[in-house]
Amino acid sequence: MKFFLDTADIDEIRAASAWGILDGVTTNPSLVAKTGRRFDDVKAEILALVDGPVSLEVTATDYEGMMREARALAQEGPQVVVKIPLTPAGIQATATCTKEGIRTNVTLCFSANQALLAAKAGATYISPFVGRMDDIGNPGMDVVSDILEIYNNYGYETQVLAASLRHPAHVLEAARLGAHVATMPIKVIEQLFKHPMTDLGLARFLADWQKVPE
Ligand code: G3P
Repeated sequence: MKFFLDTADIDEIRAASAWGILDGVTTNPSLVAKTGRRFDDVKAEILALVDGPVSLEVTATDYEGMMREARALAQEGPQVVVKIPLTPAGIQATATCTKEGIRTNVTLCFSANQALLAAKAGATYISPFVGRMDDIGNPGMDVVSDILEIYNNYGYETQVLAASLRHPAHVLEAARLGAHVATMPIKVIEQLFKHPMTDLGLARFLADWQKVPE
């Protein structure tokens, strides 16, 4: 399973990269806004730091505008994956990007039928928003499971990128289902490391080590 960090914060990307387990980064307009910095600056720093796929989102809502942004973003580096919302214009733009060899991450997916449209348009990734589905009482992992089943039925190559993951149980379930990628905030990656028995066991080993004669 690939791990992407869901952030536009450079310090978080540096920290997660240092662990040697980071495969890529996903951003969105809200995450960029949270940094309080200009998109161009944030984008340049992320691309200088990350070798793996970096999802950068278009903000136009019409097909022509999306394609202008997608083509410009794709020029920024080989790691760029253009993030496109799941609307009719977005699917049209995704299909054109596929023809032009531009990698895409179709975002704001809340149903398996939407994911089917993204796969038909040749999206590189589909991002079902698990946490936001859970928020409205619609179990997000059921949608991830449906998408994987449908993609498997037809051999679609679109990768399922489980997004809006809020806690370790989300990561566990996404991995059990076989989602290709999990994108998560750094807090969730940090939580994956944690187990009280590990802390307790380490404290005991270190205490015993003090008793070993020199
Ligand atoms: O990857 C999508 C993610 O950024 C949305 O997460 O927690 O805002 O629903 P959240």
